[in-house]
Amino acid sequence: MHEDLMNRTPSSAPYVLGTTDAEHERLQRQAGCLAPFTERLFRDAGITAGERVLDVGSGVGDVALLAARLVGPTGEVVGMDRDGVALAKARMRAAAAGLNNIRFVEADIATSLSGAQFDAVVGRLILQFFPDPVAALRSLVVAVRPGGVVVFQESNWASFLAQSAHLPLRSLCGSLIFDAFRRSGARTDMDLALFRGFQEVGLPPPELRLETPIGWDLETRRWVDDLFRSVHPRFEELGISGASVGDLSTLAERLEAELDATQSYAACIGLVGAWSRKPIP
Ligand SMILES: C[S@@+](CC[C@H](N)C(=O)[O-])C[C@H]1O[C@@H](n2cnc3c(N)ncnc32)[C@H](O)[C@@H]1O
Repeated sequence: MHEDLMNRTPSSAPYVLGTTDAEHERLQRQAGCLAPFTERLFRDAGITAGERVLDVGSGVGDVALLAARLVGPTGEVVGMDRDGVALAKARMRAAAAGLNNIRFVEADIATSLSGAQFDAVVGRLILQFFPDPVAALRSLVVAVRPGGVVVFQESNWASFLAQSAHLPLRSLCGSLIFDAFRRSGARTDMDLALFRGFQEVGLPPPELRLETPIGWDLETRRWVDDLFRSVHPRFEELGISGASVGDLSTLAERLEAELDATQSYAACIGLVGAWSRKPIP
C-alpha cells in the first residue's frame, strides 16, 4: 500500500541534531514539553477518529503516537523518518503502548509522494531542516486527499530567546545553538515561511498560532542543556567555539542555579502551528 513512499532520493540536507541514542532520549523528553501544544493543534485542525495520517520526520515516534490516539483503532498512522534506529525505537514504543494502528516507514521525505492516500499530513520540527521547505511541502501535499488537512508545527527561536534574555548563561547557550542551526542550514523562525509556503504550494492561507512552552517542571528546565549537548559535537565543523559556556560537565547545574538565583521559569522552543485544508477541485 505504501510502497511508493519508499521510492525516494536522499536529501542533501545535513541534520544538525544527529542520530545518537542521547538525541533519541532528548527527543522523548522534549516531546513531554510539547505534547499538549501539538495535541491541541491537531484537534483544532480537525484530526479525528478513523482518519489516515502521515507523520513526517517521526523520530522516535512521539507525534505518531499522539496522532494514533486521536484517530483511534479505526484510523491509521504512518510515521516516516530516514533514521532507521529511531524508527525501531518508535515501533517498540507503539507496541508497548498497545497501539496497533501505527506503522513506521524508513524513508527520506525530500522527494515526491504519489497518490492522495491520507486524510492528513502532519509534522513537528521537520520542515525547518530542509534546504527548500516549500519544495518538501509541495511533495507532501500530493499525499493528502482533496479536503484533507496539512498541519505543521515548527520552531520560533525569537520567542525562546526573548523569554531567556534576562538569563545570561541560558541566553548564551541558546545563541550558540541558534548559530549552529543557522550554519547547518536549518531555519530558526518558521512563522512567515509556513504562512507563505502553504500558499505557494496551492493551499489556502493557513490558520496560525504561536506558542512558547514555559514552566518550572524538570523537562522544561533542562531543555537548553539537553539540546546544547546534542548540537555541541557539531560546533567545531560549523566553526563555532563553545568555550565561553565553560565546563560542559557542570553546565546543567549552572543553568539550574541561574534559574533559582533569578526566581525564573524556563522556556522551551517557540512553536508556530499552521494548518489548512487542501482545496476540493
Ligand atoms: C527534531 S526531530 C523531530 C522528531 C519528531 N517530529 C518530534 O517532534 O519528536 C526531526 C526528525 O526529522 C528527521 N529528518 C530530518 N530530515 C529528514 C528527511 N529528509 N527525511 C526523513 N526524516 C528526516 C530526523 O531524522 C529526525 O528524526
